Amino acid sequence: MITTTGLTKVYESRGRQVTALDGVDLHVREGEVFGVIGQSGAGKSSLIRCVNLLERPTSGTVTVDGVDLTALAGRGRRAGKDLRRARSSIGMVFQHFNLLSSRTVEDNIELPLEILGVSGAERSRRALELLDLVGLADKAKAYPGQLSGGQKQRVGIARALAGNPKVLLSDEATSALDPETTRSILQLLRDLNRQLGLTVLLITHEMDVVKTICDSAALMRKGRIVESGTVSELLATPGSELAAELFPVTGDATGPDRTVVDVTFHGEAATQPVISQLSRTYNVDISILGAAMDTVGGRQIGRMRIELPGRYEENVVPVGFLREQGLQVEIVEADATVPAQAAQSPVLAKEGAK
Ligand SMILES: Nc1ncnc2c1ncn2[C@@H]1O[C@H](COP(=O)(O)OP(=O)(O)OP(=O)(O)O)[C@@H](O)[C@H]1O
Ligand SMILES: [Mg+2]
Repeated sequence: MITTTGLTKVYESRGRQVTALDGVDLHVREGEVFGVIGQSGAGKSSLIRCVNLLERPTSGTVTVDGVDLTALAGRGRRAGKDLRRARSSIGMVFQHFNLLSSRTVEDNIELPLEILGVSGAERSRRALELLDLVGLADKAKAYPGQLSGGQKQRVGIARALAGNPKVLLSDEATSALDPETTRSILQLLRDLNRQLGLTVLLITHEMDVVKTICDSAALMRKGRIVESGTVSELLATPGSELAAELFPVTGDATGPDRTVVDVTFHGEAATQPVISQLSRTYNVDISILGAAMDTVGGRQIGRMRIELPGRYEENVVPVGFLREQGLQVEIVEADATVPAQAAQSPVLAKEGAK
């Protein structure tokens, strides 16, 4: 639904060049919620602004719903109109809502329809329908100043949907909201994704957002995508930073001569009682040192750090048993077990001052 190839953006400011995007190949499938995560300055906003051509890419292509937007933007005087039409199939939600304070909620939602030349009666019908969809049917005549942050963002989402887009782009839509309101807005985005078959590309620096609603995720660093895939694919990738952040497990061996193993559950294996089978089959006492389990897309998924008595050499067979059950198993070296309080997020760790 959204594809970028070799997307590059170099800003020129005061004679200096800043490479915000450095050859980004992104592929977002139709109907999925795709999260892009990364630390401040990684290029996330530049990416989303290039996807709807608010920002002109320096090189590379952007295709949305089969239309090459970069080609439209480059076609001289008529480009404006074609690009505007193509853009109407892309909705955009902003961190600070960007509502016009002098207009009522209804009039804010009608704004993009006015620009598209939709008649007054039809605009009003559509606006009320959208307000109902986002749960604000009673706020049509209110002004933005009379709404809470969460309600403002609902208006922002309704406005983004006015042109019946197939794609919704969201840049930190929840980072100005408190945790509870964040949950309700994420739930709304998830519902819209399901009900309308809307493809959602969202930018965030919060791992919880990815965990709550994303089918797929990508990690950006210094203008590049360094990891990407569905949550299951990421979990199945040994050493994946995103997987480790999504399902962090910590815990130290309780003594010498112990084997510490990280087990990743996804797909079929997640529903089998493998740990108790292991314990019974080999008559070993298993300690659970840490676990992070969750339901993603209706399936149980997660990681567990377990400890078996004895050195690894003595546990080759039980570890082999786990692998045979379709689980991903990584042996944790003794000095790699980090106490929880010392563990630091490698994904979002700041590499320097902002
Ligand atoms: N209009 C601009 N002119 C010059 N440099 C810019 C411009 N916009 C962004 N940059 C630079 O491009 C880089 C990427 O910025 P971008 O806003 O895309 O990061 P981000 O990942 O969205 O960060 P944040 O999480 O803080 O929003 C940064 O180094 C930034 O300073
Ligand atoms: Mg940003």
